Amino acid sequence: MTRRPLIAPSILSADFTRLGEEIHAIAGEGDARADWVHVDVMDGHFVPNLTLGLPVVRSLLGTSTVPIDCHLMIEDPDRWAPEYAEAGAYNVTVHAEAARDPVMLAKNLRAAGAKAGLSIKPKTPLDDYVDVLRHYDTLLVMSVEPGFGGQSFIPEVLDKVRAARRLVDTGHLTLVVEIDGGINADTIEQAAAAGVDCFVAGTAVYGAEDPGRAIAALRDRVIAVRGPDGAAP
Ligand code: DX5
Ligand code: ZN
Repeated sequence: MTRRPLIAPSILSADFTRLGEEIHAIAGEGDARADWVHVDVMDGHFVPNLTLGLPVVRSLLGTSTVPIDCHLMIEDPDRWAPEYAEAGAYNVTVHAEAARDPVMLAKNLRAAGAKAGLSIKPKTPLDDYVDVLRHYDTLLVMSVEPGFGGQSFIPEVLDKVRAARRLVDTGHLTLVVEIDGGINADTIEQAAAAGVDCFVAGTAVYGAEDPGRAIAALRDRVIAVRGPDGAAP
């Protein structure tokens, strides 16, 4: 299986007065095209910040030609997450720390037509969720405390990335390994070397003069570390 690097710009760092245009800016051609659009849903309870919810996600789904990756930083995802899948999100990620029955929740997300993602905060051990992750399509390793864009990358989480990579490469899990928080030109290479498949980048893409070029530049750095098909380092 090839592992072409996936780049997922986070619209948390985009201009919220013109989200449609901001998504259009990352939906260009070739290497400048985003693979997924990362949408951070925060409820002001699971994290101390409030962003947007299902009505806005529905609008984005109506305008985006790039698959939408919903990162739900919310309480009670068992109740609320399936609606994002039913609305048409490509991938719906819930937090392991918030889910009551993560196996049932993954089944519900898949039944509603989405890929199921499980996210772990920086201090949450991977080992506690290895069995549960057999029901998931995506593992989102947080490399900052969730809640805000523009924070510094926490390199210690790369041990969990390496462990997840080993579990995938040895056939124990079938997952896209995604990382979120503080990914930029200075940090993406170490994440790539540790075995990440999908790189979320907010500030590094939307803070750049040309978001499309920023995507291409990030992708180039991953390819420089791993080769175009993501061969293991
Ligand atoms: C943080 C969010 C991230 C955030 C990343 O809780 O989950 O997706 O937008 O932003 P940067 O890339 O600026 O760290
Ligand atoms: Zn996120």
